Amino acid sequence: MARIAVTDGMAAAAIAMLEREGHEVVLEHHQTDALLGGVLASFDAVVVRSATKLTAAVIAASAGESGGLKLIGRAGVGADNIDLSAATENGVLVCNTPGSSTQSVVELTIGHLLASVRHIGPGTQGLRQGEWRKSELRGTELSGKRLGLIGFGRIAQGVGRVASALGMELNAYDPYLKANVARDHGCQLHSSVDEVFRRCTHITVHCNLSDETHHLVNAKRIGLMTGRGADGIECGNHLVNCARGGIVDEQAVLDALESGQLASVSLDVFENEPTTADNRLLQHHAFQGTPHIGAATLEAQTRIGFEMAELLIDFFSGKTPKSVVNRDVL
Ligand code: MLT
Repeated sequence: MARIAVTDGMAAAAIAMLEREGHEVVLEHHQTDALLGGVLASFDAVVVRSATKLTAAVIAASAGESGGLKLIGRAGVGADNIDLSAATENGVLVCNTPGSSTQSVVELTIGHLLASVRHIGPGTQGLRQGEWRKSELRGTELSGKRLGLIGFGRIAQGVGRVASALGMELNAYDPYLKANVARDHGCQLHSSVDEVFRRCTHITVHCNLSDETHHLVNAKRIGLMTGRGADGIECGNHLVNCARGGIVDEQAVLDALESGQLASVSLDVFENEPTTADNRLLQHHAFQGTPHIGAATLEAQTRIGFEMAELLIDFFSGKTPKSVVNRDVL
């Protein structure tokens, strides 16, 4: 039976499922020094969310000749906190749970879009301070506006479905997508990301962070946005990122908020996490933010826990787990 370290939490029912199968689960968050010192070497598997960084040095201290780690479970989608080459070199399989948080991230993205164009945050803040800012907080509708989705995978498709029901026109950039998938979702697929920025007043980000997508949302592209909706309304330009920090250039969006080129910016993810109050972007009145809570719902965390427990049970009973990130290890 396996010894499994869970460093960033896991749903209690999923832990119980592993224990019923005879596995030992140790719930404990480890600081970098302990990870580098090989604290994971005595485990067969580790389950992490985004808080634990499994760098090449940490993996080398935990697997291969240094220890017994055979599987890394990423309880979530993005595996950018794991050095995949190091995992592969050390024969460690990396698995994730790609579908379990989709609906939660879709709903947070739509929540940010609606809250920003209707000033829900500033309205609440005013009320708390005894201010009735009714005349100041005039918003715009999403209906009749063009939405640009950067990346058109599961989450973007879900956002597209809701946005379309609200009356938005869908546009997307996704160089890896077949044109018919976008067409089936009533979405116009563009071959150039610039074209999406030129056409749309509302942008939502849904791609992975890579060398190719680092600062994909930058001053030049934000400068292409017109601030005028398909319905002719001067609605301003709006940006939402619930995907990964680093895709959006935070200095560029702060400059664009200050110049008025962007009317609102909503971020759930940041270039450096946890971001701190000295990040000047957070202080701008048209900035709206949440602390990387896209997958932080009761439903998503329960689904993620069960999916991860199943992957682990399959692996330790000799089956190939269904969501493998580094297939070269198999
Ligand atoms: C994910 O990649 O699954 C999300 O960003 C959630 C997280 O890391 O907490």
